Amino acid sequence: MPTDHRITAADLDTLRQWDREHVWHAFTQMQEYEPLLIERGEGVFLIDTEGNRYLDGSASMWCNIHGHHHPRLDAALHRQLQRVAHTTNLGLSNPTTVELARRLVEVAPAGLDKVFFSGDGSSATEAALKIAFQYWQQCDRAGGEPRTSFVALGEAYHGDTLGAIGVGGVDRFTALFAPLTFQAIRVPTPGLPAGPSPTADGGPRTDPSSQAATAAETLARLDRLFSEQGSTIAAVIMEPLVQAAGGILVHPPGFLAAVRELTQRHGILLILDEIAVGFGRTGTMFACEQEDVSPDILCLGKGLTAGYLPMAATLTTTQIWEAFLGRHSDGRAFYHGHTFGGNPLAAAVALESLNLFRDERLLDQLPAKIERLRLHVDRLSKLPMVGECRQCGLMAGIDLVADKSSRTPYPWEAQMGSRASLAARKHGALLRQLGDTVVLMPPLSISLPELDALAEAAEAGIMEATETPAVPSLQ
Ligand SMILES: Cc1ncc(COP(=O)(O)O)c(C=O)c1O
Repeated sequence: MPTDHRITAADLDTLRQWDREHVWHAFTQMQEYEPLLIERGEGVFLIDTEGNRYLDGSASMWCNIHGHHHPRLDAALHRQLQRVAHTTNLGLSNPTTVELARRLVEVAPAGLDKVFFSGDGSSATEAALKIAFQYWQQCDRAGGEPRTSFVALGEAYHGDTLGAIGVGGVDRFTALFAPLTFQAIRVPTPGLPAGPSPTADGGPRTDPSSQAATAAETLARLDRLFSEQGSTIAAVIMEPLVQAAGGILVHPPGFLAAVRELTQRHGILLILDEIAVGFGRTGTMFACEQEDVSPDILCLGKGLTAGYLPMAATLTTTQIWEAFLGRHSDGRAFYHGHTFGGNPLAAAVALESLNLFRDERLLDQLPAKIERLRLHVDRLSKLPMVGECRQCGLMAGIDLVADKSSRTPYPWEAQMGSRASLAARKHGALLRQLGDTVVLMPPLSISLPELDALAEAAEAGIMEATETPAVPSLQ
């Protein structure tokens, strides 16, 4: 098999066969898996082994920021390769990673001065949970009872490792593993879609009054919980503004700030998971800025390296860090780490990505793109098979339903979301769905015409898939 770019038809058949036989794809029913091999990327396009071009409508799982094969990111990576590819950060450092830590502290919400590096988002949330837990064992404020519990929202998603699914609330992903995990205290999310549409034509339909009511209920519940059991609660963990993997569930304005106020009043840590929403996705560098909130612990991943390389980070305050200080013999160190945490290649790209944010004034370009996406979302929400659309910044979820007025879902076995995403490929876009919610989450560098083309491909895929709603074979 040649390793250069000349892949013959015979090679391709072999690769597809090996892919089916050997590669266990994430979140994929392998019995139904149909290989599509992406060979190259150019800007917001991915190009398969046969030369077909697709708009990257999921930003390669929500992490690509500046497009693929970006000359400055590529060059930063090459420059670092001339120095060193990897050294451990267990008691050792390197200039690039140190510089990145400093830059992250500069751009992060105020008060987050310490950076713990890991390799992926799940590891960043695991580290956050363990740091919060250990903090309470070692800090002076703890009081009597051990603080061993965590509070999370319904439909929460914070990763797939066991600690992360302990605070996760998407049953489809977590229920099976419940006997292996600790169980967080769960409070209802205010981001769930409302009941049937009150409007005849069906516009975007999350009912703000019912969302506000759920938010008020959840906040009251948190207040009660913190008053009654606060001395046993280590932290609240949540995604700010929008729960991405939960189904693009957008919280009502003010919810995050109100949770922050409650956690501060009751002396409970707040962990914000900005793995999906950080680095510009919601229109600001970090989502929590929009409600002027700075958490005690912040989890970053995905867009940290602009979607180039695996790297994640858990940022904390100095107050938390100080609880871990002491002599070696005190045993207060954080005994947790990952082989590739702080990897210099990833750090070099992450640094250059922050430079690109600055030099290309990427955040200033977002309002026009977000507005354009809003127009498309409004249009798509009027389709007869769309129950509701939700948008936050440059991310949108389009719910497909069998009956619009009652919001009756398609039978689960019909896999309508998956079928719509697959059909969109024929129209030039790679999409990823969450159940029957088709997600649009392109690289932030996407142009307005490319955004139009992406929305058109999504619409064509949805129309085509829903024309034949019988349970299909996905082959
Ligand atoms: C909010 C959130 N937290 C954590 C994770 C887990 O990140 P990773 O897949 O890099 O482990 C994800 C991934 O989608 C996420 O969206």
